[in-house]
Amino acid sequence: MRTSPKSVIRTAVFPVAGRGTRFLPATKASPKEMLPVVDKPLIQYAVEEALAAGATRLVFITGAAKRAIEDHFDSDQELEHMLEQQGKSDLLNQLRSVLPSYASCIYIRQPAPLGLGHAVLCAQPAVGAEPFFVHLADDLIRSEVACLQQIAEVYRAKRASVLGVQAVPRQDRAAYAASSKSRNRRRHPLISQWSAATCWLRRSSSIWKSSGMAPAARFSSPMALPP
Ligand code: UTP
Repeated sequence: MRTSPKSVIRTAVFPVAGRGTRFLPATKASPKEMLPVVDKPLIQYAVEEALAAGATRLVFITGAAKRAIEDHFDSDQELEHMLEQQGKSDLLNQLRSVLPSYASCIYIRQPAPLGLGHAVLCAQPAVGAEPFFVHLADDLIRSEVACLQQIAEVYRAKRASVLGVQAVPRQDRAAYAASSKSRNRRRHPLISQWSAATCWLRRSSSIWKSSGMAPAARFSSPMALPP
């Protein structure tokens, strides 16, 4: 059995209750966190990054039309049985490794999409007084050392709230809804996700001590750094 790596931060919060209106109609019935990049949904990348950084308790703040996320991390006996019967052991192993046995999922419903700050606050009963990650799964970043890992290391050294940011080139700000005008612009979901991988303000990885919860609402709309 696999064991969890030792870490002072064992809880990761994934606010996934937003309606994703900028990706409509792709997000009408399917959560934007379930948009696939190659062969995995975005939320899977986020969970893997959190697990690699040492989290073992995964708290999802869900909302309307987000059932698919819960199903994704649940086991599917019928499908597993079918793959077993067909001798598709590789696929079966892939399916079973979606969530390692040492990790547990907690789902909390945000009653209405009242913003990111409110979503993070909904996690309080599950988080308690421990430090925790907040990871926005709609922001996929590729880097040599994963962002949550970097943040965990800074936290270990400083024992303070840590916010990971990434500079966004001025000319790309509109692609990240830096203004209310651009928030209404339609973008192709995959183009958006891939550009997110290269130049998105790193708003998705932050750690707050729940005792001194930072005003998470400051992340509710993307920010651009001054030149
Ligand atoms: P966004 O700012 O991207 O908002 O949320 P949104 O509602 O998902 O998308 P648009 O603006 O309608 O296109 C950033 C993160 O915060 C979560 C989202 O799921 C996303 O991961 N969120 C946002 C919540 O959990 N609850 C909310 O009320 C708002």
